[in-house]
Amino acid sequence: MIEKAVRILRRGGVVAFPTETVYGLGARVFDESAIRKVFKVKGRPGDNPLIVHISDMKQLELVAGSVPDRAKRLIKHFWPGPLTLVFHKKKSVPDLVTAGLPTVAVRMPNHAVAKRMIRLLGEPVAAPSANISGRPSATTFESARQELEGKADMILKGEPSRYGLESTVVDCTVSPFRLLRPGSVTLEQLNKIVKVRPMASKAKGAQKSPGLKHKHYQPNCEVLPLSGAEWKKGLIKLIKAGKKIGVLSLKAPVPKDPHIVFSEKFRGRESQYAKKLYSSFYRAEKEHVDVLAVQSTGKTGLGLAIMDRITRAGGKA
Ligand code: TXA
Ligand code: MG
Repeated sequence: MIEKAVRILRRGGVVAFPTETVYGLGARVFDESAIRKVFKVKGRPGDNPLIVHISDMKQLELVAGSVPDRAKRLIKHFWPGPLTLVFHKKKSVPDLVTAGLPTVAVRMPNHAVAKRMIRLLGEPVAAPSANISGRPSATTFESARQELEGKADMILKGEPSRYGLESTVVDCTVSPFRLLRPGSVTLEQLNKIVKVRPMASKAKGAQKSPGLKHKHYQPNCEVLPLSGAEWKKGLIKLIKAGKKIGVLSLKAPVPKDPHIVFSEKFRGRESQYAKKLYSSFYRAEKEHVDVLAVQSTGKTGLGLAIMDRITRAGGKA
């Protein structure tokens, strides 16, 4: 199957494939018409750049200009893994991939299928998440199929993604480095290795990482974050309003009521919350809920990434 995917990529096709973060929709980075197809298939705005996926350090040299020593330390600690680093780009990287930016975002995934596909191809693969633009990322084969069946030239099968949220993105072209998108590698973990500043305010962030300004991660139902303090009252209000409700609870108790058609409880484990977040969004759609009530987390550790996705999914960021 992976060999077939590689043949398709070589012929200019686009292939959805599993990674440890979310499923990606890949094309050869140097094939402009294939890259155009990625944007078209997803309905992605042309000003939102793609991440370039590599399988070894030689491939980094094909796309990135100079790599600062501090970035090398991050690479040593976190690659392969859920961390994307932004560098000055090599001229050979098509402007389409970087949406005209002078920089390129690069990641080395830690997933057997993704690694093997890129290694066999022998060159980097540009890949956004495997979902229609604006929708939740696919973290299961079924979600990837739901989004891209008949649109991608092939969808490679894998287990549900281990982390469930997109990679952490760090800009290595500024000093100190800056977080552009929180993810499974936390700011605290990064700061143990090198100084990385928190995300800029929305206006500045939108300039630097154009993708941040677009609608993101939104299922076909309302996503309503509720803190622990708002939880009980909030749920009762939804029940009284006659809503069909789905619930994602980190710790808060979930009442038994026929309006609540499904609930996922994560027993205080944020990693499980992250892993199941998007598949729960897809489940909420399947069960036709009106509102998915999701418990807010703190904004430290993995909580920063979870809250980022939840607020954007709710259309509040
Ligand atoms: O985990 C992931 O990163 C997944 C898997 C497939 O690897 N990919 C992913 O791609 O989430 P996508 O396209 O959904 O998100 C890419 C993010 C966007 O926020 C985009 O703006 C940012 O990376 N990005 C890409 N190139 C950039 C650049 N040169 N400068 C700043 N931000 C960049
Ligand atoms: Mg995406």
